[in-house]
Amino acid sequence: MAKNKIIIGNWKMNPRTGKEAEKLLIGISKNISSIKKTEVVICAPFVYLEKLKSLKTRARKISLGAQDAFYGDIGAHTGEVSAEMLSGFGVKYVIVGHSERRSKGESSEETNKKLKAVLSAGLIPVLCVGESLRDEKHEYYNFVKHQLLESLNGVSKNLISSVLVAYEPVWAISTTVDRKDATPDDSREMVIFIKKVLSDKFGKDASSTRILYGGSVNEREAGEFIKNGGVDGLLSGRASLDSKKFSEIVKICETLSK
Ligand code: PGA
Repeated sequence: MAKNKIIIGNWKMNPRTGKEAEKLLIGISKNISSIKKTEVVICAPFVYLEKLKSLKTRARKISLGAQDAFYGDIGAHTGEVSAEMLSGFGVKYVIVGHSERRSKGESSEETNKKLKAVLSAGLIPVLCVGESLRDEKHEYYNFVKHQLLESLNGVSKNLISSVLVAYEPVWAISTTVDRKDATPDDSREMVIFIKKVLSDKFGKDASSTRILYGGSVNEREAGEFIKNGGVDGLLSGRASLDSKKFSEIVKICETLSK
């Protein structure tokens, strides 16, 4: 069965004000009004979600996502927001294990707890994996394999198709110092590997797990990644802060889905 393509915008800690967030979402929404097949998700900072939700009639085609969620039950977790709270609020997707959180000390064990909490709350986790460096001995494959297996530990077979895996090589992310461009070939090879790891662990249930590419996705190369990168969609950071660029990426994806 053909899987719908999905484009996710990760706004990170942007934009500066709620007004700007509103303007950005409205801009994207207007530009993609003719989109029918492609799923579009914006993962915004928590404080903007309420405002963006109230724009939903104007932005019917855009689902909302969060950039993190905590696994604890209600109680003594200062500063945290639980998956359950997000679910009650109307968020549909939650990014877990983003490299910017891992670089602040989040372990794969913690990502695993978050991912399971997100699934239990009936939401869709967007699990980010990706190596910081590519070494000549190809150890980075093992690195990604461990990230995947640790982050997905204890997830049942019947839920694996609800997980989105985003391959984001850290060396290609726009804010990485001395970053390099990843190619659709880099993506395709890793996607094949990720599919193998998932099918070894979850069997055929993993065949409908969608895999995305992320790392300096832009409107010039998005088409090549969709066509030749082996992916079911893209996760965009910087470009998602520009309504024209992000909408262009969505439109390219839509055209290629036909
Ligand atoms: P980028 O960010 O598109 O700005 O590289 C992607 C991400 O970090 O999710």
